[in-house]
Amino acid sequence: MPEYKVTFKPLDKTVIANPDDYPYGTHGRPGSLLGIALANDIQIDYACGGVGVCCTCHVIVEEGMDNLSEADDEEYDSVDQAPGNTLNSRLACRAIVQGDVTVSIPHWNRNAVSEHG
Ligand code: FES
Repeated sequence: MPEYKVTFKPLDKTVIANPDDYPYGTHGRPGSLLGIALANDIQIDYACGGVGVCCTCHVIVEEGMDNLSEADDEEYDSVDQAPGNTLNSRLACRAIVQGDVTVSIPHWNRNAVSEHG
């Protein structure tokens, strides 16, 4: 199976996602940006627990939009409510990684306090 490079900015942290290892935790869809981030101690807010209704996991895709699962109407409705949303905005809990991707985490969505200690 291929491995995907997932880069989180502005941390400039690149992690490897392997579809054989999905789902990466219990928050968000299996293989989601959120799950991959949390599995690698990259903190993104996820107030609704990763079920796609709060938009606190909003990220902006800088490269590789085609390497994410397509957004559905529910995701569009939710991400439209996100502060600072752009045409490249996605919900980290809904977007499944299917190739190399670079995303930026808005500063207000970075969880400053790690739940992992
Ligand atoms: S964690 Fe709530 S919408 Fe993604």
